[in-house]
Amino acid sequence: VIMITLAVTLTLTLRHNTDQLKPIFIDRCKKFSRNDCEKIWDVFKQAYVGKDPCEVPMEAYDPLIAAAPFKPHCNRMMFWSKTKNLVHKFTEKRDCFLTLEDMLLGSVLDGLTWCGKEGSSETFTTGCPGWSECENNPVRSFWNRASAALADVACGDVTAMLNGSITTPFSPTSVFASIEVKRFNATKMKRLNVVLVTQTNAVTNCTNASLKDLRKELDKGIKYNCTEVTEFQIEECSNHPEKPCGSCW
Ligand code: APR
Repeated sequence: VIMITLAVTLTLTLRHNTDQLKPIFIDRCKKFSRNDCEKIWDVFKQAYVGKDPCEVPMEAYDPLIAAAPFKPHCNRMMFWSKTKNLVHKFTEKRDCFLTLEDMLLGSVLDGLTWCGKEGSSETFTTGCPGWSECENNPVRSFWNRASAALADVACGDVTAMLNGSITTPFSPTSVFASIEVKRFNATKMKRLNVVLVTQTNAVTNCTNASLKDLRKELDKGIKYNCTEVTEFQIEECSNHPEKPCGSCW
């Protein structure tokens, strides 16, 4: 009886884990009116299937980025750190800015977890390493690689929405600081406009020490600007898409 119970549980767990991701991936991909979603899925899968889930480096996703490259959207690119919900609520309603999660690969994988296993050709969606459990996990490496690819094509005036309710809005361990800012290139990118989102009892303003570090880290030739904007103002702009974007901050 114990053996049978174990076998049934194991089968159900495997069933539960297997191929949960593909339909979501394909569904979300098709919303971008592409006819190569199956192909993109196959290339994606190759990055992590059959591998130890702590040994998937960023480079494993190079073929995926090549299959579905990021196009530059000069003057409309929006980077962010610690403002996930607010920034996406904003970009969802308005066309003036696009985040990684509004583009194909970011949108397809946003909020999902996946990994493989040595000796298996399956995709698992549970029992995968957490973000910080090991550096080279499939999820973290994907976001690092996608963020790098997006930053590589950053052009014109670029915006970053940072969180003014924390003492270190430009945190060295964030993807924005550790990957994206390092790849901004002055030959393509003219300026970085920081939108520092503040609340009524703001703890941080544009004179913040971490923002001085940000300025120093920018490629010489990229201009810098910082504007303090209340969360209320951004919400007003999200709720009133008819307002011109230029009036939001
Ligand atoms: N555990 C789990 N997920 C994490 C963790 C963590 N410790 N850290 C980051 N993430 C994932 C989550 O999905 C989280 O919502 O990354 C997202 C953003 O994390 P933040 O620290 O808020 O921001 P940052 O690391 O700077 O990444 C955002 O990278 O995604 C790109 O282009 C995008 O500019 C944006 C930047």
